Amino acid sequence: MNCLIKSRHSNLSYLYNMKQAILIIFILLGVFSCSKKVGTNPDLAYSDNALFDSTHNSNYNYYQNNPGNLLSGTNGPHGTFKLRFNTIAYNALTSNGKLPLNSKFPEGSFLVKDVYKNGVLDIYAYMYKRNGDWLWGEVHSDGKFIAKIKDGPSVCAGCHSQSGNRDQVLTFNFY
Ligand code: HEC
Repeated sequence: MNCLIKSRHSNLSYLYNMKQAILIIFILLGVFSCSKKVGTNPDLAYSDNALFDSTHNSNYNYYQNNPGNLLSGTNGPHGTFKLRFNTIAYNALTSNGKLPLNSKFPEGSFLVKDVYKNGVLDIYAYMYKRNGDWLWGEVHSDGKFIAKIKDGPSVCAGCHSQSGNRDQVLTFNFY
């Protein structure tokens, strides 16, 4: 009799412990899923550093499919350059390598201007299409920024809106 009561009692406390353990698991799951949400800020993918990183991807096509073509850059402030497009941007170009008149680059387009000084890659100047507008940046190849996203509207966009621009892109006018 005594023994029976004892074992019933320990069964109950075992069940009680199980309940507590399950409760703790659920609380932990809740905490982790919340902290995960806080950690994933979608805007981080479009920060200055993230865009700089993206200039190092390999999925680019050069202007008019000619990687050896070093352009003079005499019309802009940067100097000799090569221009490359990510796949989204490149697919918007016609067979002559230009964006059709009066059309726009699609969301996610990324154009990178590799600027060369004395034959050596010196600066990346780039524009990234987000929410229908360009994010601009200019950074030395060692990661030192010259202009950041916040500077784009005042430093870059004005000159890039000069007559003849195609969705604020100017290379098509000159080369
Ligand atoms: C005074 C005018 C001017 C300013 C300011 C300017 N650009 Fe440009 N940019 C040009 C011209 C002109 C070209 C065409 C290529 C060339 O001749 O250099 C060009 C080309 C580019 C290109 C290649 C795509 C295209 O439009 O042809 C990128 C990317 C670019 N500039 C980024 C920038 C960024 C980023 C800034 C600001 C930090 C900036 N530019 C400021 C005139 C300017």
